[in-house]
Amino acid sequence: MGRSCATMALVFGSFRSRSRAPRQVARVASFGVALTLLVGCTSTPSSPAPTQSSTASADPTGTTGMPEGAGITIPGIVVEQSVNNDPALQVSISRPVLPGQFALSEALRFFTEGKERAFRADYQPSPEVGPELNITWQVAAAAGSFAAVRVETREFGGASGDVSHNVFYGNSASGQAFQSEGLIDPVHRDALAALVWTAASKLAPPIEDTAPRGALGQLLLTDLTFTPTGDVVAHLNQGAVAAYSAGNLTVTIPKDRVNPLLSVEGRAVLDAVTKSIPYAVQGSSPAPASPPAPAPEPAPAPPVPAPAPAPPAAGGVDCAALKCVALTFDDGPGAHTSRLLTSLDAAGVKATFFVLGQNVAVNPAVIKRMAASGHVVANHTWDHRDLKKLSGADITSEVTRTNQAITAATGSGTALLRPPYGSFGQPVRGLGQAIIMWDIDTLDWKFRNVDEVITRGMTGVKAGSIILMHDIHATTVDAVPGLIAKLKAAGFTLVTVPQLLGSPTPGTVYYSQSRTG
Ligand code: NI
Repeated sequence: MGRSCATMALVFGSFRSRSRAPRQVARVASFGVALTLLVGCTSTPSSPAPTQSSTASADPTGTTGMPEGAGITIPGIVVEQSVNNDPALQVSISRPVLPGQFALSEALRFFTEGKERAFRADYQPSPEVGPELNITWQVAAAAGSFAAVRVETREFGGASGDVSHNVFYGNSASGQAFQSEGLIDPVHRDALAALVWTAASKLAPPIEDTAPRGALGQLLLTDLTFTPTGDVVAHLNQGAVAAYSAGNLTVTIPKDRVNPLLSVEGRAVLDAVTKSIPYAVQGSSPAPASPPAPAPEPAPAPPVPAPAPAPPAAGGVDCAALKCVALTFDDGPGAHTSRLLTSLDAAGVKATFFVLGQNVAVNPAVIKRMAASGHVVANHTWDHRDLKKLSGADITSEVTRTNQAITAATGSGTALLRPPYGSFGQPVRGLGQAIIMWDIDTLDWKFRNVDEVITRGMTGVKAGSIILMHDIHATTVDAVPGLIAKLKAAGFTLVTVPQLLGSPTPGTVYYSQSRTG
């Protein structure tokens, strides 16, 4: 048994915290599910049986975001990006696999997969307004052997939405992972919840029934982090204390009040954070059992010393005379992108990548390599949310943040945007970006089959086509050499989107070289 069977204690909170009204008792029933995973000894259990919860009021909650000030990076993180590209049932989940933090990575996988299962059980596809689940993350702390990851879950069904945060801690030395309430000794959690509630109620009028009693108190402990001086910051989900309209309240509990309440692990995290112990993974992680975490790809080519120049607009290819086709790849960069670049280089083909800003920020090296190889790096928003469900300011932020990340990695930005799910409204036309859609959809995300990608890529393809694929799937990367060979054999010249379209006009929608809207 030994280390490979290290106990990973996890106390799972709201798998089903979609209910909007704090006074609903149904929500309480979904809390307090404690379980223990024996890492490397048992298979991952299924998520707790869902409890019925119901939606109530319908405050728009599109604008609340992550707490400020994280911005912590850990080298070597691999992003697992999982996207259901069906506009009628939209799912985009991003989660990190952290080097040496096996238990934490598995806890994040278990949690996010549970969220997706619950979402799919709750909602039917709707062609009108597709329900949307969007999960993103950030590193909330890294000190000593501890890493903390904050998960942000956004769930939209019909007109209502809900945003929730959960912070997970991992200890590479002990092989354990726990949610943030694990920082607190179980017998003192109600006491901390009372402190948090009292502090929050001074910021906004509390809803009467949110007073922490029993399991309800755990609602207040889902996002706890330490300041460098040892105070505890509690970031509260909407509706946890005050009305939804009060937004996400943040309160700080002084260290002298918190210290007597900490668990053993909580004291160890406090020690690492307040002493600014550098983050270092200790020991080796047991090999993943099932399912395996994706191994990082071999290191990409050495970093480019100078920022890569902007790719040539036309690149000497005359797509008015040649039968040109553009290969496009969305949702990355991911674990398979480096391999795809090697494959494209071998075939002498330049492609266009519509990347997520959050993934660029984690893995700028692969974006540098992309640009240096002559591929075009374009914008697929920061975190793959449906732009139709966002306000103007949030839409702008999605696009500009991503352009900033691309510019930071490559030295130049982009004026090419592909909206997630191909979904956009009129405001998106006013962002100074050409909107690049497609006329050939390989449905690679759906079938995950090499032959299917090639067949669908060739079906209906014509001069001027834009082919849609996703480089987050191994099967897609596997299919690319075969698809390229078939396209070339059919007389097509493979080009980038700028080569195909010349200088696309901002605000115009392009489905192919000849079809615009
Ligand atoms: Ni996408």
